[in-house]
Amino acid sequence: MKVAYVTGGTKGIGLAIVQSLLKDKYRVAFSGRSENSISEAMQTLDGYEDYLLPIVSNVKSYDDEQRAVEFIKDKWNQLDLVVANAGIGHFAPIDELTLDQWNETIDVNLTGVFHTVKSTLELIKQSKGYYMTIASLAGTNFFARGTAYNASKFGLVGFTQAMMLDLRDFGIKTTTIMPGSVSTHFNGRTPGDGDAWKIQPEDIAQIVIDLLHMDSRTLPSKIEVRPSFPRKP
Ligand SMILES: NC(=O)c1ccc[n+]([C@@H]2O[C@H](COP(=O)([O-])OP(=O)(O)OC[C@H]3O[C@@H](n4cnc5c(N)ncnc54)[C@H](OP(=O)(O)O)[C@@H]3O)[C@@H](O)[C@H]2O)c1
Repeated sequence: MKVAYVTGGTKGIGLAIVQSLLKDKYRVAFSGRSENSISEAMQTLDGYEDYLLPIVSNVKSYDDEQRAVEFIKDKWNQLDLVVANAGIGHFAPIDELTLDQWNETIDVNLTGVFHTVKSTLELIKQSKGYYMTIASLAGTNFFARGTAYNASKFGLVGFTQAMMLDLRDFGIKTTTIMPGSVSTHFNGRTPGDGDAWKIQPEDIAQIVIDLLHMDSRTLPSKIEVRPSFPRKP
């Protein structure tokens, strides 16, 4: 059985990916920042306990991510897929954006992915595994109030694509998925009926599964995903 690690797997896109991987017969380690969010997620994963490894880890911390990988080594000593999904958003015009908001956005969305990748690389080299990062259309389309988020996601797209070239020679696949609006808890939202026009988290999870089943000779390295019927402003 293959093993996956999904960062930020307690809700939204990450949780949907955890659920789809379990159905696809993966054993899954997933992280979140608190015991509370982890145990809430575990309640939605009832029946799969034997195939799960929940881990409290903040991707901002390299020590946390290294510790998370030690847990995975202890339990399964194997890792075939990493989905670097954990992310946050602070949106404000540049004259109002604070230093803390800037630092947190870059620390989580960009440096956090670096921490996850560096910590897992030895295991992924062994398995000739797969890295996926969840970037955003904000990694190619800039918008007002988006300086920090755009910078983090433009950076993440560049990071992932350069890494893809480095790791291809080791037989490791790397893909960045760039969604538009997805109905999740992102930025403190509560998904509701008004979000039906958006991409749903399970649609991104389906892309993850489809990528895993792609023939090994072919690598979709960067995938833009958008709502088919965007809400008009
Ligand atoms: N929603 C969208 O429209 C959209 C569009 C494009 C891209 N994205 C990207 O998709 C990814 C997932 O977002 P989402 O929409 O699913 O949002 P969400 O529902 O708010 O989920 C975010 C997840 O990330 C975790 N997380 C946040 N900061 C973390 C940290 N420092 N360390 C570890 N885990 C952390 C959260 O876990 P805890 O709260 O348990 O810590 C939660 O599981 C993000 O990278 C986001 O930028 C979202």
